[in-house]
Amino acid sequence: MALSLVHSTLFSKTSQLLLHTKIGFSHFSSSIPFSTSALPSNPKTWRRPVISVLELGGVKIARDDVVRDDPTNNVPDTIFSKLGLQLHRRDQHPLGILKNTIYEYFDTNYSNKFDKFDELCPIVSVKQNFDDVLVPADHVSRSYNDTYYVDSQTVLRCHTSAHQAELLRKGHTHFLVTGDVYRRDSIDSTHYPVFHQMEGFRVFSPDEWEASGMDGTSFAAEDLKKCLEGLATHLFGAVEMRWVDTYFPFTNPSFELEIYFKEKWLEVLGCGVTEQEILKRNGKLNNVAWAFGLGLERLAMVLFDIPDIRLFWSDDERFTSQFSKGQLGTKFKPFSRYPPCYKDMSFWISESFTENNLCEVVRGIAGDLVEEVSLIDNFTNKKGMTSHCYRISYRSMERSLTDEEINDLQMSVREQVESKLNVVLR
Ligand code: DAH
Repeated sequence: MALSLVHSTLFSKTSQLLLHTKIGFSHFSSSIPFSTSALPSNPKTWRRPVISVLELGGVKIARDDVVRDDPTNNVPDTIFSKLGLQLHRRDQHPLGILKNTIYEYFDTNYSNKFDKFDELCPIVSVKQNFDDVLVPADHVSRSYNDTYYVDSQTVLRCHTSAHQAELLRKGHTHFLVTGDVYRRDSIDSTHYPVFHQMEGFRVFSPDEWEASGMDGTSFAAEDLKKCLEGLATHLFGAVEMRWVDTYFPFTNPSFELEIYFKEKWLEVLGCGVTEQEILKRNGKLNNVAWAFGLGLERLAMVLFDIPDIRLFWSDDERFTSQFSKGQLGTKFKPFSRYPPCYKDMSFWISESFTENNLCEVVRGIAGDLVEEVSLIDNFTNKKGMTSHCYRISYRSMERSLTDEEINDLQMSVREQVESKLNVVLR
């Protein structure tokens, strides 16, 4: 899949089409036995233990508060285990290096005016995640198929835009919010259910645009484009850029910035002039503002030549030791390429079947050993029954997998797909 599809911005019209057609070292992580000495001798049975309580931005969170056997909850343990890892706060990790480079750009060009947040709790209300940024009530992103719900009113944020309103209300006018975001999705080398975004926001007061003779919206749009073109140059050097008009619920007008990099147009970020309604509701009636949101993995994969999004989560020293604080763009040297193993499975689907649910089951069993799940055959018979055939690619980034191990995994996948997804194996 083209890199330009890595976690496309969720809310733009074009991105929805794309998605549908194809469809840390946190302060407490020291309590998790990460070191290999803690691994039992048989790697096959080892899973990183799920810790039961963690602390996020000063809030204590118990596993049982987030993963519950309740129809309003769809958070699996695999996702809970990612909460609090905060890869973006590790200065030697590609995501931390990228975040710091962006900070550097804003600090230098705006004399430290942007307030920075990178520890806001990823568990937010439905209101924060959707209503506060004007996401329509019937928008697909609100579905249980696309978003992780802790309960009917609480989600794992699916974008850092979820914090715009609260920060405005607290009086911030220039801010950057970096954090882990969560989306139920398909499985391939550029999609992972947890990834990282940075949100930028700047508020202007009337005296700033009045002197220019422009209306507020045009003034903000022009300033936004200048700021982000400068940022793209800071990250990628002198590249060709283009602006594409798009749609987001929270901005108008809305744009995407693309750069021409390695012979392809790459979508870098989404942005726009903030909807007046958001400013009005949050105590900024007479102002205009701009906002942007960018996906850190998408950019880091390109800047560091990282071929698979799972690598960001690797504790393997052969990955982690390749990056150093402050060094943007060190090219990753692949340390191995272990053979993949493909397993196909066919089943008659029911109406409630979705690919995201299938991927969740597969990840729940195989974790990061699954590289891709792809639909390779799809037909409807004369009786109107629809059959799907999926190819599951298993490949470890760290070692060779044995036939026995893969067969065991595939057996469990088959069992759970049948019992949990209401399909009939063929
Ligand atoms: N929240 C959007 C997403 O995840 C990204 C985004 C687009 C953020 C435009 C913004 C913005 O602040 O103005 O798809």
